[in-house]
Amino acid sequence: MKNILITGGAGFIGSHVVRLFVNKYPNYNIINLDVLTYAGNLENLKDIEDKPNYTFVKADICDANKIENVFSKHNIDAVIHLAAESHVDRSIIDPLSFARTNVMGTLNLLQAAKKYWDNDYENKLFYHISTDEVYGSLTEKGFFTEETSYDPHSPYSASKASSDHFVRAYNDTYNLPTVISNCSNNYGSYQFPEKLIPLFINNICNNKPLPVYGKGENIRDWLYVNDHARAIDLIYHKGKLGDTYNIGGFNEWKNIDLIKVLIKTVDKLLERKEGASDNLITYVTDRLGHDYRYAIDSSKLKNELGWEPSLQFEEGIEKTVKWYLNNESWIKNVISGDYQKYNKKYLQKE
Ligand code: NAD
Ligand code: DAU
Repeated sequence: MKNILITGGAGFIGSHVVRLFVNKYPNYNIINLDVLTYAGNLENLKDIEDKPNYTFVKADICDANKIENVFSKHNIDAVIHLAAESHVDRSIIDPLSFARTNVMGTLNLLQAAKKYWDNDYENKLFYHISTDEVYGSLTEKGFFTEETSYDPHSPYSASKASSDHFVRAYNDTYNLPTVISNCSNNYGSYQFPEKLIPLFINNICNNKPLPVYGKGENIRDWLYVNDHARAIDLIYHKGKLGDTYNIGGFNEWKNIDLIKVLIKTVDKLLERKEGASDNLITYVTDRLGHDYRYAIDSSKLKNELGWEPSLQFEEGIEKTVKWYLNNESWIKNVISGDYQKYNKKYLQKE
């Protein structure tokens, strides 16, 4: 048996990673550690919560004593670290929380791993999940590669960049076995509806305005969340220690063009007239320091480990829109706050 600590498993990407590992590897014990901030929703894991190789632990990654106890109680062999404050707009309002969780929380986990493994690093791994935003912003041409210098602009990306540096520092200084991946924008099921895609799907369904920042000309590189989880599985098992892998789908979209695809897809599935929701587009004040373009070169991951995205974007978007339409109660619970009741009920059962 291997005991793998996955942090942030009640969030969007974390829940997909936990589900994949619990289902695919019955011989691994998956310990999902999450403090359940507003973004943590145990309902995301309803389908696997009773599996024998799954355990949930409510804990803050900044709580050193608690984290040390978790390492020893569960005899942790490996960490896949996703817990973070993840929303750029929130980081502009409250940068300190981002420094606390993303920087100090990561450092605290590194320290716990170093202490518990105590120089016996055989079959141990600290895998840190990061973002393409650490590389900054591109103009019209070029891609972020693993060699691109860090140039973060938002408090969120600055905190993630800092956490990446600490992970590399623990590898360089103490030989802690680490690996890092930096991924582009994810989309898919169970994403908190403050991020562009689920927010806009929900607003189109409910005939609410779609707040487009600036002129809608910023460009993002979108990847289906299950493909990110597949890449994490591969890098966890085959990634070179001390190395970094970029993950992305070579799938760039100008925000406004993506929004038009969302409108078209929702209107079609709801059997509305074509163009019925176009008037919901509302241009609003731009995000402060809004990065213009992200584009990931993921050829290293393809060439070295054989990973490729499994879905074309149009297929992924249609699947995603259908999921939100078919899971109305999930989104209603999130928006009303009722998902917190599920979290409480689950914890009482524990
Ligand atoms: P999310 O906000 O949906 O989930 C974050 C999870 O972390 C939540 O369950 C939350 O409760 C938990 N958490 C927050 N603070 C914590 C703390 N102090 N202790 C324990 N748990 C805590 O985030 P996401 O979009 O799933 O992102 C997951 C990771 O992937 C993050 O590290 C993020 O930087 C990275 N990432 C995200 C994207 C994306 O497009 N969403 C792309 C690339 C990388
Ligand atoms: O690139 C990876 C990053 O992608 C992750 O590291 C972050 O955790 C994740 O939140 C995401 O960051 P973005 O800022 O790119 O995602 P968001 O969904 O917030 O915004 C996508 C684009 O849409 C961005 O250019 C801002 C714009 N936008 C967003 C919202 C929420 C709008 O125009 N209106 C909106 O209401």
